[in-house]
This record gives sequence, structure tokens and C-alpha cells, in this order.
Amino acid sequence: MPLTEQALKNPVAQAVYAGLTADRKYLPAWLFYDEKGSQLFERITRLPEYYLTRTERAIFQQHADSIIAASLQIWRNANIGITQVPALRILELGAGTASKTGILLAAATRAQGPTSYLPIDVSASAINEACDSIAATQPQVTVEPQIANYVTGTLDVPTHNGPTLALYIGSSIGNFAPSEAAAILRKLRDQLQPGDTLLLGTDLVKDTAVLERAYCDSEGVTEAFNLNLLHRLNHELHANFDLAHFSHAAHFNTAHSRIEMHLRSTRRQTVRIPALGLSVLFQPNESIHTENSYKFTCESIADLLKASGFSVAETFTDANDYFAVNLAAA
Ligand code: AVI
Repeated sequence: MPLTEQALKNPVAQAVYAGLTADRKYLPAWLFYDEKGSQLFERITRLPEYYLTRTERAIFQQHADSIIAASLQIWRNANIGITQVPALRILELGAGTASKTGILLAAATRAQGPTSYLPIDVSASAINEACDSIAATQPQVTVEPQIANYVTGTLDVPTHNGPTLALYIGSSIGNFAPSEAAAILRKLRDQLQPGDTLLLGTDLVKDTAVLERAYCDSEGVTEAFNLNLLHRLNHELHANFDLAHFSHAAHFNTAHSRIEMHLRSTRRQTVRIPALGLSVLFQPNESIHTENSYKFTCESIADLLKASGFSVAETFTDANDYFAVNLAAA
């Protein structure tokens, strides 16, 4: 049955219809982030097994001043003849609540005083939280927020007479297939000027057990995050998923260099989704693929940046080589 006119206007309904009528069932990862899902993700970032957030934060704590100094130097090198470098501004794609960005903003204000910060995110509530926390802690920073979907929509960065340091951190790029990742970075590149820079945070390939534990934690928070997707569909589309008969699964797919998350049906069952006029049959063990989280090597990061019009200037990692922060020139 085709989608009703009302469902056609609802992006959640459209995405669920496309994913659950496909030969291999899938749901797009952006569906995780309703209010409850965003809270669960915040808890994931504090889990002992989820090393990504604290490792990237430690890299920023150690290298923030060098990152700002290197960005200014790259701009000077590309704009020879301009002796007085105008103030650097910091732009952030997918800023969320900007919890780690404060470290870089503090380094920018140490180097130059007043600094503009332009967070861009699809979530108004996350942007508001970011504005409040920065206003409370960083009096020298002026926040110019933008609510926009930089993945599906266009990216409009206001012009600036001076250097821009764009941040795309938190391994957010890892949740996109390689071609989508390159398209997002290319869209950003098209808005930057010679001498502007990009700071890209990516998770690195490592021991499979370490990777898999990060996505299958002992407290079951990632399991709850994954299953919350079905709860969301029950709530928003009046579906009747029985959460007791789907289980969380995460494994490292070596061939694609990515963690895959799935929701596996533990029995044969039919789920009804009245808002879509749809009945979905699940065989025992059949899964819904809910997320990819790509893991990189230094070579694959350099290739992605090159394909998007950037070149690597400096790479910062932790002592275990778990996570990489790359500064790249536009
Ligand atoms: C948001 N993103 C970078 C997380 C990741 O690690 O891919 C999402 C996540 N999924 C499960 N745990 C965390």
C-alpha cells in the first residue's frame, strides 16, 4: 500500500517506510536522536568502554593552543602580504551541545581575545544548550547559532574577512558512508576560503574487542539506545514492536572497516505500523541494520580529505592511537 499524504510529509514516516520495505531492512541512524535517544547518547559518551569522547577531549586539552596557532599560520601562509591577521572564527558542524568545543574556544580567546563561534546543528534544543553553556563560561565568545540540516540541505556560511576554523569532531563523519562523508566535507569546503582550516575528529581502527565493547557496553546503555528506536516508532507511528523480542547486536565488519549495529528479531513475528498502513514480517534472526560507525586509518583519513578538497596539515593522536584529530587546509 502506498504512503498516505500525511505520512508522505513526515520524514520519519518516509524513512521508516523505505527502510522496512527494503530487501535488507535498515533504519537511518539519525532516527536515534529523539529526546530520550539524545539523553542515552550523552550517557554513552561517559561509559568506561566508550573511549571516543574522553580520548578526543584529552587530545584537545593537550593540543588546543597548537591547533589555534597552526590554523592562524596556515591562513598567513595562504594570504601573504596581509600583516595584520583578522580574528579567527570557529564554525562547528553538528555542534550538538558543544561540550568539547569550549576547550578550543578558550584557546582561541587566549590567542586573540574576542572570538566568534558559529554552531550549526539540526537540533534547536542542542544549540540552545550550547549557547547557554558558552555564555556562562566564555565571556569573550560571541555565539551566532544556525539551525540547519547540513546533510540533506544546503550549507550557508556567512562571509568573514579573516580565518575560519571549521570543526567536525566527535567522529560524527564516521556515521556516513564514504561517498556521503566526502559530499558533506565537499559542501563545507565550497564555503571556505584559501587558508581556512578544518579540524576533523575520527575514530581509528584498533583491536576488534576494544571496538566491539565500545558498542556493546556492560551497563546496557548502547542496547537501550538502539532499542529506543523501536520505542520511538511505537510512539510516533503507533507501531507495535515488542521490544522483548528484538535484541541489540554490534560487530566490527572488517571488509568495510565499520562497526555495524543491528536490532535482531528473536522469533518470527509480524509488526504493524498503522501510520504507514504497513505490516512487516520478521524471520527468526532477521535484523534491522540501524547504524554504521566507520573506523579510519591515517591513510583513509588523508584520502577522504583529499577527495573533499582538503590537505592534511597536522595530525594529533593519543598515546594508544585510538583516536585522530586532523587539522587540514582548505
Ligand atoms: C555519534 N556517533 C559518532 C556515535 C558513534 O560512535 O558512531 C554514535 C553511537 N552509536 C552507538 N554508540 C555511539
